[in-house]
Amino acid sequence: MLDGIAPDRLKYFVYVQRRRARDTRDYMIQLIKGFHDVLPPETAKWRFVIETARENLVRCGFREIIIPVMEKTELFRRGIGEVTDIVEKEMYTFTDRSGESLSLRPEATAGILRAVVEHSLLRRDPVLKLFSIGPMFRRERPSKGRYRQFYQINAEVLGDDHPLTDADTIAAAYQIMADIGAKSVIMEINSVGCRSCRTAYREALRSYLAPHLPRLCADCRRRYDLNPLRVLDCKQEECREICATAPLIIDHLDASCREHFVQVQQALSALEVPYRVEPRLVRGLDYYTRTAFEIIHDELGRSKAVGGGGRYDSLLRELGGDDVSGIGFAIGIDRIAMGIDGGGSYEPHVDVYVAMLGDNAREQGIKLVHSIRRSGLSVETRYSPMSLKSQMKLADKLGCKKVVMLGEDELAKGEATVRNMETKEQFSVRIEDIIRYLQGEHS
Ligand code: HAM
Repeated sequence: MLDGIAPDRLKYFVYVQRRRARDTRDYMIQLIKGFHDVLPPETAKWRFVIETARENLVRCGFREIIIPVMEKTELFRRGIGEVTDIVEKEMYTFTDRSGESLSLRPEATAGILRAVVEHSLLRRDPVLKLFSIGPMFRRERPSKGRYRQFYQINAEVLGDDHPLTDADTIAAAYQIMADIGAKSVIMEINSVGCRSCRTAYREALRSYLAPHLPRLCADCRRRYDLNPLRVLDCKQEECREICATAPLIIDHLDASCREHFVQVQQALSALEVPYRVEPRLVRGLDYYTRTAFEIIHDELGRSKAVGGGGRYDSLLRELGGDDVSGIGFAIGIDRIAMGIDGGGSYEPHVDVYVAMLGDNAREQGIKLVHSIRRSGLSVETRYSPMSLKSQMKLADKLGCKKVVMLGEDELAKGEATVRNMETKEQFSVRIEDIIRYLQGEHS
């Protein structure tokens, strides 16, 4: 089409187009890097995931808690651990006008436990089961399935340290995944021992790492002194190679931690929850003791767990509460939604389309639309003038089973035409009988 245009004019044309595109881009306000919008029909899939999780958790005796997305930074420092990637590098922290350091929550467990202590919830319920759903914020390197604002379904059980509680909690997480329809899900489990097992293990790990110190990354050299277990979680290639042959915590468990872990595995087998012991599994948060686990959805690959959790026997005390143990997990909604089939099938359906032709029909039609909606059916319509053909096309696109056609002639007779979109049959129905007619058809 551009043949025959002088090269200079063509150059100028391309220049103008590019400038226009750049100006539009500069003028538009775009998303923050690493953040993402969830658009329909994907939102319908999210709703399905959230409702399935909520129903499952309520069946297991969990009750919902809603906590703020922002807390004092100190809560996460103390809860998650000073020498963790989350606290050292990933929190959105700022100084409030009052001079206080605040952070957007990178996870929900610390906030839930803060609320439990603050409102003395364990006094009412010595065994307390809570869940919470909402956004978390971590300034990680963005990639597919890794965002800086992401959403979690979070569940916590406080006040029961029996190994069967661990198995019951892991099974609840698995059941959510099964009911969502996620295939090839496996729970990877490990025991990270209690504080006393870890003291001995830390020394074994330091002895192993010492000769490799010059090859470790700068972060890991620092972690070696402060918190050597975190070296096991390093993503750098060379550190990972070194850690591949490091001693395992599972070989340093004391008798009671070993027995606890055996009982968890026996119960998971009895419950037919697919799991494998992953002795190198360490979690990115410092509060775990004994059982730690991740939910692996094979289709998304190992590097992207869709969920994770574990036992934390001293976190509540560290946050100022009683010496009460806990176990919990979080499932990442963004990642599960990626791993299940397209959103279309989760979209809510539309029962009825009301096609209006003419101003009188629109005046009457808006009342009819609202009465049909009040009767419990879903209705779509358009008020700006459109041809009947375009309205029928739209009704078809929306998957409506019935179309109620309101034209001037029908109105004059106090009637509307109802078309069955599947059988293509049409009937004249009196306006006052339409709801009864539609309800009969839809029940
Ligand atoms: P977490 O393993 O850090 O655990 O996060 C749980 C899940 O959140 C991950 O498996 C993943 O699906 C999702 N997730 C984490 N970071 C991102 C990200 N940047 N983008 C997308 N999804 C992400 C915790 O948060 C613990 N609080 C879980 C817990 C509860 N432990 C005991 N109770």
